[in-house]
Amino acid sequence: MCGIIGYTGEKEAEDILVDGLEILEYRGYDSAGIALCQADGSVRISKCAGRVKELRALCKEAGFRGTCGIGHTRWATHGGVSDANAHPHQFGKVTLTHNGIIENYRSLIQRYGLEDKLHSQTDSEVAAAVIAHFYNGDPLAAIRKAVLKLKGTFALSIIFEDIPGAIFAVRNVSPVVIGRAVQGSMLASDVTALGQYTKKYFVLPEFHVAVLKKEGIELYDMSGEAASWEWMTVDWDVDRSGKGGYPFYMEKEIMEQPEVIGETIASRIREGIPDLSGDGIPDSLLADCKRISVVACGTAMHAGLVGKALMQSLVRIHMDVELASEFMYADAIVDEDTLVIAISQSGETIDTLEAVKYAKKNGAKTLAVVNVRGSSVARASDYAFYTNAGPEIAVASTKAYTTQLAALYLLTGRMAYVRGRFGREDAERFAKELLRTPEAIQAVLDRREEIHYIARSILNAKDVFMMGRGLDYSILLEGSLKLKEISYIHSEAYASGELKHGTIALITEDTPVVAVVTQGKLQSKEFSNIKEVQSRGAGVILFIKETFDMDRNASWDGVFRLPAMEDGFMVMPASVALQLLAYYVSLDKGLDVDKPRNLAKVVTVE
Ligand code: AGP
Repeated sequence: MCGIIGYTGEKEAEDILVDGLEILEYRGYDSAGIALCQADGSVRISKCAGRVKELRALCKEAGFRGTCGIGHTRWATHGGVSDANAHPHQFGKVTLTHNGIIENYRSLIQRYGLEDKLHSQTDSEVAAAVIAHFYNGDPLAAIRKAVLKLKGTFALSIIFEDIPGAIFAVRNVSPVVIGRAVQGSMLASDVTALGQYTKKYFVLPEFHVAVLKKEGIELYDMSGEAASWEWMTVDWDVDRSGKGGYPFYMEKEIMEQPEVIGETIASRIREGIPDLSGDGIPDSLLADCKRISVVACGTAMHAGLVGKALMQSLVRIHMDVELASEFMYADAIVDEDTLVIAISQSGETIDTLEAVKYAKKNGAKTLAVVNVRGSSVARASDYAFYTNAGPEIAVASTKAYTTQLAALYLLTGRMAYVRGRFGREDAERFAKELLRTPEAIQAVLDRREEIHYIARSILNAKDVFMMGRGLDYSILLEGSLKLKEISYIHSEAYASGELKHGTIALITEDTPVVAVVTQGKLQSKEFSNIKEVQSRGAGVILFIKETFDMDRNASWDGVFRLPAMEDGFMVMPASVALQLLAYYVSLDKGLDVDKPRNLAKVVTVE
């Protein structure tokens, strides 16, 4: 979490930094700050608890000027939300911003006698103090020595009062990307903040120190030797980073789904069947494994659950879906016959990254399904399948999720084909139906006002239950997470058959239920379960495949008929309908849809 940015060059830095922080704000938004090197060498800091727009006003008032500076937007870990805990932090001649967690900060405080010398409760200020402790005019040596004392994850951007115009950066795990832009050099936590200025960037290698100057960039390894880097290209349309006329990024990102899913799928269908050769994913990877483990968090993990249902029924391979944060602590069983698929939008989720490392250490082959090119998870994995979602800014994931689903369909289709479960005709039929998903999703989007209307019936609910079976249950887990995170309504998804094993005790006329019915073979059982909750007074909102019959005598709080696809593909239009339900509840409650409380888009702490 937390976003960092830095600029040094010909231009005034303030607006560049604050504009960049606005883009990075999705990484954390409880406080923000910048530090500017003044012409006289002094470093001036403006920082405050609150959003970047409050920082912008503060900066205008302060009127500091400078062509070199660093900025930060925070998601609090150590130390509450306060002006003092906002970054940048200054200690002696050192000013820095930090993304990550310094785990041994307590022992560092003791070791360097910092007890009475700190102004904040943060681990980050301790890092500044340790660098200042080692600094005697040689910044590279001080950073190298200090970094060896730090335990944990960090991306640090550092300025030294007596070296005006230079920004130093070093990292372990937490990301930093660097580019040449705006007649100078820039760094940021991710490429979205650089994308408006340059398409070329490189990822700062771990435990290397970058020096950014107006004239250029230098890179050194930990022994002080000059090192080289590999330029990468931002491959997404920067225009996609704006709100495009929608009130919130989330709505825009929901609306983009037909296009980005179309791109994700169409580029992987060759000669009528799924083909992953363009991604460099060899058929042998899919043909030779004996089992699959998905590691992922949150929404990405939910995508994995859909993948599991598809793989098990179409490929007949054993597949586990593990919460990445639990994976290695549960002594997960992976070996050279296991294919570990890491799913992540950002590619920076630390638990997912650590799970990949654990899998590799245990001999597994690893495949990343990731949205952000060159991200840590992609680089750590043996193979990468890049989804074509483009930048996803809203904290609540939507298009990243459905493009992950598209990726899992493609992997399933190809795997079934190379393992002989699909003949050519089966693979063609599968691909043909998959190619229909953009139009089915568009049909849901075209009728979104119907869902807006339905959403009003749960606006004032305290608890919402969601029920479904099979694939419908898998997507309800995600629908329920979506509702929780942006509307603050407590919500739980239940496999319909499981409700009566305890949870039905909570069902009353005050607990609306959302039911999804798209699987023909489960339809009648599902309706029996719906009746059970209706009999206990619950109002039910029904999302049903349009070709299915329903009980017209029953009373519904709302019914939305989902465009028909083959049952195995219904998760696509149904997922989008659930996203819209959550979105409209949050919108009508007047909440900040894109930046729900306590959350951050990229979770880089364990
Ligand atoms: C999505 O709505 C969530 N905010 C969150 O669960 C997210 O999916 C999770 O943190 C994983 O992120 P990743 O895909 O970037 O790894």
